[in-house]
Amino acid sequence: MTSAGTTRQSDDNAPAAAVPAGEPAGNGAAEASGPHATQHAGFVHGMAAWAAKHRISPWRGSFADFLEQILPGRAALLARSAHQYLWDMMRWNGHTDDSGRFRCRLFDDELFGIDEAIDRVASYFKAAAAGSEVGRRMLLLLGPPSGGKSTMVILLKRGLEEYSHSSEGALYGIAGCPVHESPLHLVPHSMRADFRASYDAELHGDLCPHCRARLEEQYGGDFLRMPVERIHLSEAGRCGIGTYAPHDPTTADLADLVGSVDLSKVAQYGDEGDPRAWSWSGAVYAASRGMLEMIEILKVKREFLYLLLTLTQEKNVKVSRFPLIYLDETILAHTNLAEFRKFLQESENEALLDRMVIVQVPYTLNYREEARIYRKLILAAAPAFRDVHLDPHVLHAAAVFAILSRLPEADDKEAELVKKLRIYADEDVDDLQPADIRRMRERDKAPDEGLSGVSPRFVINALSHAIISAQRNSLSTMDVLLALKDGIENDARIEPRRKRKWVDYLVLTRKDFYNRWVKADVHKALFVSFEQEAQDLLNKYLDEVEAMLDNRQIRDPITSEERRPDERFLRAVEEKIHISDSGKQSFRQEVVRKAMSAFKRGEAFGLASHAQLHDAIQQYLFEQRRDVLRLVGSAKRPDDDVRARISAVEQRLVDEYGYDAHSAREALNYVTTLLAQE
Ligand SMILES: Nc1ncnc2c1ncn2[C@@H]1O[C@H](COP(=O)(O)OP(=O)(O)OP(=O)(O)O)[C@@H](O)[C@H]1O
Ligand SMILES: [Mg+2]
Ligand SMILES: [Zn+2]
Repeated sequence: MTSAGTTRQSDDNAPAAAVPAGEPAGNGAAEASGPHATQHAGFVHGMAAWAAKHRISPWRGSFADFLEQILPGRAALLARSAHQYLWDMMRWNGHTDDSGRFRCRLFDDELFGIDEAIDRVASYFKAAAAGSEVGRRMLLLLGPPSGGKSTMVILLKRGLEEYSHSSEGALYGIAGCPVHESPLHLVPHSMRADFRASYDAELHGDLCPHCRARLEEQYGGDFLRMPVERIHLSEAGRCGIGTYAPHDPTTADLADLVGSVDLSKVAQYGDEGDPRAWSWSGAVYAASRGMLEMIEILKVKREFLYLLLTLTQEKNVKVSRFPLIYLDETILAHTNLAEFRKFLQESENEALLDRMVIVQVPYTLNYREEARIYRKLILAAAPAFRDVHLDPHVLHAAAVFAILSRLPEADDKEAELVKKLRIYADEDVDDLQPADIRRMRERDKAPDEGLSGVSPRFVINALSHAIISAQRNSLSTMDVLLALKDGIENDARIEPRRKRKWVDYLVLTRKDFYNRWVKADVHKALFVSFEQEAQDLLNKYLDEVEAMLDNRQIRDPITSEERRPDERFLRAVEEKIHISDSGKQSFRQEVVRKAMSAFKRGEAFGLASHAQLHDAIQQYLFEQRRDVLRLVGSAKRPDDDVRARISAVEQRLVDEYGYDAHSAREALNYVTTLLAQE
């Protein structure tokens, strides 16, 4: 299981798919026919389609050509700022969901349960694009580790790359410019009012020192001859997307951001002050026109921060020997909470924070969404990881535990915690109205909910560990809860008191969630194997009710004896669905009415015809038949009939409820033990 070992160490990225031992490495001859050949053809076809869709439509010409061929009809698009461009990209990927809310398709299948943070980011860009003051402040994503910040930024970057290949997102730059600046910077200031009048679009920005030198020396100042080309944003190509990660703060040099003199070129241009002898390799240049991602921004030196804040605010950077360099880019910074708290402690940082827009990216508190994260991470993992069967509650149970750990440790009673958790997952709780629930949710939301606790990565690590140590390719919820317990106990970073609390939460997860879920499964599966009995019971219930309502006796089919209707039986069924003594009469009348009208229409009155009664009978039957389950665990050998029933239940669990043979047996055994304790 070495490939699962890879998974364990891996963090953000999908581990490299290891070739499982015993599987031949692909070779040409083997792939020439059979399913491989079709797959191959499909892949090649897909690649061709992708290339066609993303066809780089190259355009190159002089600025004069640009003014003639490209500008007409597109001036407003071409004059967009980086913020406007990014917001247009989000809208280009946007759609409105069922509730009429804006959603960006980029995040739909990638980020779960953090819609609020995504909305805030979208609002920031919307406002910045509209020219609001927020555009002059830096966007800082703040959240607990492994909470999706980097992923959000990566998705935005990929979105930018894609958009720049579309015709709506076509971007042009001065060819050879180290900051791929807009050719519209060539429009002289004295002509800009004219430009505005002609195209109703505002021009910002000035030529970079590099282009200025070229314009003078190469083109004798004739800006119409400056070369222009269509550009495509690309992180790998260092065009419009830049990333900066602080390595070691002590050795980090401002040059990483803004470049330095390129000594190899000084000889060529004869002057250290020549902009063409400057190495324009800094991240702020790469990011020009698009986005600069600043990873762990609060770890950088303060001089970096000042430079970046000025860049956002004034759209320029100052490099020693040049005049101000105009740069238009959005800066997206992120940091985790621990770093942020440290930063806050220094009072001089307050002024810096004032110049940032902080968007919190907390962990999700909806366990279903959390489980979707695990599913995504598992699907992206190595085959050894993917191919292990998980019983249908594994991920939900792990997620419930994770969410519990993220709620503030108030002296909340456990029942309250459980209720809160279910409300966060949009479940019906205690017949509460959705509006009440929403109110409760707002009111009860503690300020730091979701900012600490277990991260998705912790859970995935525990899962990988369970997989490595598993004997078979199947894990049950109990296996995983145990693996989580192991993970908690062996994590030196967690303080003892918290460890105990979290282990308690595992118990709570089992008691208040898993037990309920697994019982319901077995319940339903067991019921199906008693379908005929259930129908018989329904008929009996109807007969008894009719006799009762008509005030007549019932004749026993075998002995022909007459007897009174069996009120005890009727009540036993009805109590299962909480029909009170005073309500029983109207319930019975309603059942009979429904049965009669079904009869008149020539339809059979079956279990499916009455949901409530279906429920009642199911539970009644379950009570009756749980002795079958008791036998599962009994030391005595079950007789053939019981054995057949048990394997029918197991089969049901496999066919309908997502278990495999192993976990179905485990579930049955588990429920049997539970029942024995009741
Ligand atoms: N809400 C989420 N939806 C989907 N995936 C998520 C979510 N949160 C985290 N992940 C996944 O967890 C992994 C870690 O997330 P990511 O690296 O984006 O976190 P981060 O906030 O940048 O963490 P750090 O502060 O440690 O850098 C990624 O694989 C990511 O896809
Ligand atoms: Mg990150
Ligand atoms: Zn330039």
